[in-house]
Amino acid sequence: MFRSELQPVDVLKGVNGLGGSTINRLKKAGFHTVESIVVTPLRELIQKSGIGDDTAERVLDAARSLVSVDFITAKELYEQRKNAMKLTTGCKALDELLGGGVETQAIIELIGEYGAGKSQICMMLSATCQLPKERGGLEGSVLFIDTEGTFSPKRVYAMAQGLGLDPEQVLNNIIYARAYNSDHQILIVDNCSRVVEEHGVKLIVVDSVVSHFRGEYVGRENLAERQQKLNMHLHKLLRLAEVYNLAVVVTNQVLANPQAFFSDPNRPAGGNVLAHASTHRVLLRKKKGNLRQATVIDSPSLPSDRTAVFMITSRGIEDAPEG
Ligand SMILES: Nc1ncnc2c1ncn2[C@@H]1O[C@H](COP(=O)(O)OP(=O)(O)O)[C@@H](O)[C@H]1O
Ligand SMILES: [Mg+2]
Repeated sequence: MFRSELQPVDVLKGVNGLGGSTINRLKKAGFHTVESIVVTPLRELIQKSGIGDDTAERVLDAARSLVSVDFITAKELYEQRKNAMKLTTGCKALDELLGGGVETQAIIELIGEYGAGKSQICMMLSATCQLPKERGGLEGSVLFIDTEGTFSPKRVYAMAQGLGLDPEQVLNNIIYARAYNSDHQILIVDNCSRVVEEHGVKLIVVDSVVSHFRGEYVGRENLAERQQKLNMHLHKLLRLAEVYNLAVVVTNQVLANPQAFFSDPNRPAGGNVLAHASTHRVLLRKKKGNLRQATVIDSPSLPSDRTAVFMITSRGIEDAPEG
């Protein structure tokens, strides 16, 4: 079932001279909404639906004009951004640092060394996403793309219980995809619009977004190709965030003790590509015991270099006790 704000692909009939047979081919190829077409690159649209280059271009043009993600006025952009929602992390201090929570229509990148709490925050958000809006949730499902195999349903179960939610229902509303290599990870994102629409996904997590790329494209001679693929992958995620008004959270590691040749010990992996594609970057650091510190780095709208302290507990992500 499609949610009300999505436009069925039939509305393209008659636009740009598109006929019923084209619409049928699109449907057969799995494109049931205008939104699913807008997030698909031209080449992919041609391959999947088998329609001619010319027609495909007219389809994309028509779809874009209806979703208006290309040329819009600043006023329209303002209206679109006004629809952005904020998702609570479960920790007031962290929400405040993020300007009210993790916002939709954007990519939030969590950066930190091993054990900094990146995956814990991702799992917590998978539960809080299902909270009612008055409690800071998005009342939506989650698509969790796990590249390292560290997602723990048992942990999310406990977090859901801590929030007073029905834990079984919370797990039912998390669509889990294990990505085994970077091509697989790309494929999952390229093909996820159907899942996003059918399940009303309001949060997409990619934990971690760079590790496969880094492991597979080793050496300077492969760097350009890696960055290009990563760039396309991130822009696809951003497009999904904007078109479906959902939140995207990706994680990225910094190595405390780097072995790699070309990496700077104090810099997050992924280079400029990630820095440019992410809307907000949050650096996580380990403090004493279960305490962690978060700092916003290079954000266009959030004050930089402010910090918040949070705590990882049996219930998930919480505020640290005062003092
Ligand atoms: N059930 C739990 N109760 C309290 N703390 C936990 C629990 N599970 C994990 N942690 C904490 O979370 C940390 C791991 O965080 P994680 O998010 O996996 O790190 P990473 O940044 O590498 O993804 C552990 O070091 C531990 O301190
Ligand atoms: Mg992790």
